[in-house]
This record gives sequence, structure tokens and C-alpha cells, in this order.
Amino acid sequence: MKDLVIIVTGASRGIGAATARLLAGQGAKVVLAARSAEALFGLEADLSRQGQMALAVPTDITDPYQLDRLVERTLEVFGRVDVLVNNAGVGDPSEVARTSDELVDRLFGTNLLGPIRLTRRVLPHMLERRSGHIIFVSSVAGHIPIPPLTVYSVTKAGLLALAEGLRREVGPLGVRVSVVSPGFIRTDMVEQGGVAPGWIPTPGPELVASAIASLIRHPRREVVIPRYYWPLVVLNTLAPGLVDFGLRLFWSRRRAPAGRAPRPSAD
Ligand SMILES: NC(=O)c1ccc[n+]([C@@H]2O[C@H](COP(=O)([O-])OP(=O)(O)OC[C@H]3O[C@@H](n4cnc5c(N)ncnc54)[C@H](OP(=O)(O)O)[C@@H]3O)[C@@H](O)[C@H]2O)c1
Repeated sequence: MKDLVIIVTGASRGIGAATARLLAGQGAKVVLAARSAEALFGLEADLSRQGQMALAVPTDITDPYQLDRLVERTLEVFGRVDVLVNNAGVGDPSEVARTSDELVDRLFGTNLLGPIRLTRRVLPHMLERRSGHIIFVSSVAGHIPIPPLTVYSVTKAGLLALAEGLRREVGPLGVRVSVVSPGFIRTDMVEQGGVAPGWIPTPGPELVASAIASLIRHPRREVVIPRYYWPLVVLNTLAPGLVDFGLRLFWSRRRAPAGRAPRPSAD
């Protein structure tokens, strides 16, 4: 980890902040990107006080010009990018029948277009050096699309496809590509979204941070974290009808009838 230059998007809180702290503590030079400038500069100052190397670059990943600036600043200050952790994301409930066009744009812009655009900007430098590692933070929901997170799940499934295609594209040229797919993790996204059933364990973001650190040390295609979600991912591939049935049962018990999505009108 020592001296690796690592961009972490979504570093202002949650999984991104935990990852940046862990990587900086292990000797990496971390570039912190997110929109909340105050939180980013606070984290930068905190890490610097502990003798660690951090650079805050406030960035809205839906804005291509800000992505240019993020990569430019990183190269200006550290001279290269060794690892890109595409972590920033939004996770609003997004059932197709109830989701506005604006929310669809925001989900796709942040969760899928942002990572593609940032990866495009970082790749030429990695390809030139025939070295680098791109990590995408997808989700178990990318494997198992679930209401009320349907559109969110589509964006995360897109990241899985992106990672697979990109690995085949740039793997032979020396650039590694990995995916981290977390289940429910205790961050603002889950606590404010209210989408995690109360009985599901929600480990802290440090668990995902350590999975990301371990992936950087020992690159693999994908890590599903916590591991107990793997059997569900496999079940959804082999027997999706069974998962449909289970989810129908689960949601019918959980939702009040008044919460049902309206039926599309006949006209
Ligand atoms: N928590 C879970 O259960 C869970 C499960 C599976 C996957 N994930 C994925 O893990 C990643 C991190 O989520 P989290 O749980 O840590 O959520 P979080 O605490 O809400 O953090 C989300 C991060 O993304 C940043 N972000 C959002 N929109 C952005 C934008 N337009 N430009 C730049 N940064 C932006 C936020 O920073 P600003 O608001 O300051 O911009 C924040 O730092 C997401 O991709 C999420 O989909 C989370």
C-alpha cells in the first residue's frame, strides 16, 4: 500500500470515508472526492494531523469538468494514479412506477455515468504505465434487483457489466479491474433510506473498507461482503423464480396495503 496514489470517490462519509482512512493509515496517498467540501477538508486535515498523505478535491462526479479537474489535481500533486475506487453513489428508493425522471437521471448520473466518465479519464495514464487498478463499488442489489431499489439496482448491475467488459479490455494491458458488492451496510444511505429490514445485520462501513484494502493487495474479480450474501446471489442466478416468491412473501407482509404502487390507468 505504501505510497500508492489512490482516488476514492464518495470520501466525505460512509464507506468512502472509512476506506480513505484505512488506506491512508496503511501508507497510501489518498485523493478524497465528493461534493461536501467541508467534510472533505475536515478529513484531509484529520489525516494530515496523523502524518498521513491526503488531498481533498471537492468534486461532483456528475459534472465532466469537475472530473477533469479531479484527475488534473491528482497528477499535479502526486504525479500518477495507481488505484481508482469508484465508490460515490446515491441509493434512493426507486420503484419504476413511482420514480421521477429526475431521480432516474440522478441515479444513472451518479452511480453509472460518473464512474464510466472518471474511469475514462484515469485509464490513459494507467495504460501508458501498463499498471493500475480500477475498483467499482457495486452492490448485492446489482446481482439481485430488489424493490424498492429497482432503478438503483439497474445502475449497480450496469457497474457489474462495465467491470466485466473493462477487465477483458484492459486486463491484458496490465490494468486490473475489480468489483466490491456490499450487502446492507450501516451508513447514511441505509439509515436514511429506511430500506433495510430491521432483522438484517448491518455491519459498519469499515468492513467494506477492509475488503477494498485486501482487494488492492490481492486483486480478484469480485468480493461480495458480508460473505453470507453469496448463496443468495447464486440462488438468484439458478432459481430466480424462488427468489421472486420469497420477495413477494416478504414484501406482502412488510407493506401496508396503502403503500402499494398505483396500478397504471387504462387510458
Ligand atoms: N450502505 C449500503 O448498504 C450499501 C450497499 C451496497 C452498495 N453500497 C454502495 O456503496 C457506495 C457508498 O455508499 P455509502 O453506503 O457509503 O453511502 P453514503 O454514506 O450515503 O455515502 C455516499 C457518498 O457518495 C457521495 N456522492 C453522492 N453523490 C455524489 C456526487 N454527485 N458526486 C460526488 N460524490 C457523491 C457522497 O458525498 P457528497 O454527498 O458529499 O457528494 C458520499 O460521500 C455507494 O456506491 C453505494 O451504492 C452501499
